[in-house]
Amino acid sequence: MPRQFIRTISIAIALAASTIATAADSSRARAYAAAADALVARVRANANADAAPTPASLGRKIFFDPSLSASGRMACSTCHDPAHAHAQTNDLAVQFGGPLLDQPGTRSVPSLRYLNPFGFFFDSEGTPTGGFDRDGRAMSLLDQAERPFLSANEMANGDASTFAAKLALAEYADELKQVFGADMFDDADGAFFRARFAVEAFERTDPELHRFDSKYDAFLAGKVMLSPAELRGLALFNRADKGNCQGCHPSARGSDGSPPLFTDYTYDNLGLPRNADIPANADPAYFDLGLCGPVRTDLAGRTDLCGAFKVPTLRNVATRQAFFHNGLFKTLRDALRFYVRRDTNPEEFYPRDENGVVQKFDDLPLEMHRNVNTGEVPYDRHPGQAPRLDDAEIDDVIAFLGTLTDGYDPATDTADPSRPLAR
Ligand code: HEC
Ligand code: HEC
Repeated sequence: MPRQFIRTISIAIALAASTIATAADSSRARAYAAAADALVARVRANANADAAPTPASLGRKIFFDPSLSASGRMACSTCHDPAHAHAQTNDLAVQFGGPLLDQPGTRSVPSLRYLNPFGFFFDSEGTPTGGFDRDGRAMSLLDQAERPFLSANEMANGDASTFAAKLALAEYADELKQVFGADMFDDADGAFFRARFAVEAFERTDPELHRFDSKYDAFLAGKVMLSPAELRGLALFNRADKGNCQGCHPSARGSDGSPPLFTDYTYDNLGLPRNADIPANADPAYFDLGLCGPVRTDLAGRTDLCGAFKVPTLRNVATRQAFFHNGLFKTLRDALRFYVRRDTNPEEFYPRDENGVVQKFDDLPLEMHRNVNTGEVPYDRHPGQAPRLDDAEIDDVIAFLGTLTDGYDPATDTADPSRPLAR
């Protein structure tokens, strides 16, 4: 182990040095590559931890393996970092991938903790529910994993054979054969499929992705008390005439006693302001409309669903530095102020046109403005009315949201989503 560790450190230093030399063009890309290199070090330090391989243990290795990318420096965990509750490590609206780690994505990175267990469907009332990615277009985690491995702005393998050739060189290639059969690498599509199967097994079963060890979980179990501010925040979160947050982010145990997930996995249109930091938005004709496209294609005819994105879990939300699908807001306070002041003070969020008129819902084509949710608390207000939450109440909701971070330690009253799991 110590020798492995020393080797790890020297690899990391060599990689960090080469990074600084090659990525002179952009400080963002550089910061990003440094994070990627730190990851390489961490992966190698953990490499000899496991015993008998299983699909899930191999999925874990694949998830952390940067050698499976065109850059050699990007793994799933680069964007879905355990220390950040399996979400992005930075406050950028979008991440950069590809062979040179300079190709931008179009959406912020969701956490992979507490993922929905089902694919996309319309419920009995016609409400879109479930599915993977922010527009639910992937029906399973196995489907979903295809994109990050192949797409030009992520791990950028392009096709299954490029991916499979890299996988065949992985340190755990023999373990893959042991678990999936000696023919593991006989054809590229088969190898790619089995790799994604392993990743799905990891995402479904890894205890770190389903920890349920936040302060709020301890509170529900009667083990700790929330502070007065946290309790006030919980009440405001739940009250139908205040935050009404539980309407989409349920905070109570299920009827079967299951812990709350803080999402109902449905979709809604919040009318977020356009984010100029997303390179794709440089084209004024480009709109990311979630369910109805352009990334997702099967619901293009359902213009009533344009602008709707999946409700994310609020577990670990306090660890984020970029909020909502377009990563526009950088603090929880700004995200919550948007919720309650969007309709009372729209000038705080949207640009004005040449006549000084505030361009509300500027990230949606005009004919789709009516899709924005303007009927439900807290976004049912009009200019001149008081917001549903004032600043002191927002502070309390923020205090409450802080209790949803995994890895709570009652001794210090702090939480760390990468704290070793109690086993
Ligand atoms: C360059 C950053 C990046 C990398 C690398 C990356 N992802 Fe993601 N991931 C994202 C973004 C951005 C989204 C949201 C995409 C969307 O909504 O279209 C996402 C979404 C997901 C989702 C859907 C989550 C949900 O709430 O439905 C899963 C699962 C996922 N990624 C797994 C993976 C796996 C497995 C890998 C490695 C094979 C990976 N990701 C690599 C950025 C990344
Ligand atoms: C009608 C449904 C609905 C209600 C009510 C609601 N939300 Fe949300 N929430 C969403 C949706 C949908 C998103 C994702 C929107 C997007 O990315 O475009 C979201 C995203 C968020 C995010 C960003 C999370 C992330 O990972 O980026 C926060 C924070 C949040 N909600 C907090 C709250 C709070 C606090 C309340 C109550 C004041 C609330 N929400 C009420 C539907 C709702």
